[in-house]
Amino acid sequence: MILDLYIYPHPVLLQVAEPVETFDDDLKKLVDDMADTMYEGNGVGLAAPQIGLSKRLFVVDTSAPEEPSTLKAYVNPKIIVKDQPIVWNEGCLSLPGLYRDVQTYGHVIVEAQDVEGNWFREEAKELRAVALLHEYAHLDGSVFIDRLSPLKLRLVRKSWGKRIRREAEKTYSESNLHCVFATDAKTDTPT
Ligand code: NI
Repeated sequence: MILDLYIYPHPVLLQVAEPVETFDDDLKKLVDDMADTMYEGNGVGLAAPQIGLSKRLFVVDTSAPEEPSTLKAYVNPKIIVKDQPIVWNEGCLSLPGLYRDVQTYGHVIVEAQDVEGNWFREEAKELRAVALLHEYAHLDGSVFIDRLSPLKLRLVRKSWGKRIRREAEKTYSESNLHCVFATDAKTDTPT
């Protein structure tokens, strides 16, 4: 099932998410739905705040379309190591149509729980490392443009803020994604 996609700067994207405590069928269904939503938007990762849920959980699949899936869910993740600084052209399903070069890391070791609650460790490089760090940042209320210089961030916020709906419509016109905007926030109660 495809979930509603929350668009920056919706408040749910700006807050620190809460740990996941219950590992049940609902969590598995949520992970499946998050994966469906990520694929619908042609993303390589999706964090729970992006579907309006302030929980420490994300999914990542960095495989190319013709390659076998590398889909995995990361519940209550911790970044153990991040090194090898690199610049990467990042984008985000919650900032449709916007891509910027930002500083990140090319090597990561992450520990997380799977949907059963079992801890695992993963070492990742390049795109996978970048995606893990990008999704992890969502759980702490941060998006990739926060890594721009203050001047560039101000410019992006100003210009992009006016085009949010247009960019979202353009980006997702051929998809089944429904976007939730910050201006709709009064009626939303993120859980
Ligand atoms: Ni993102």
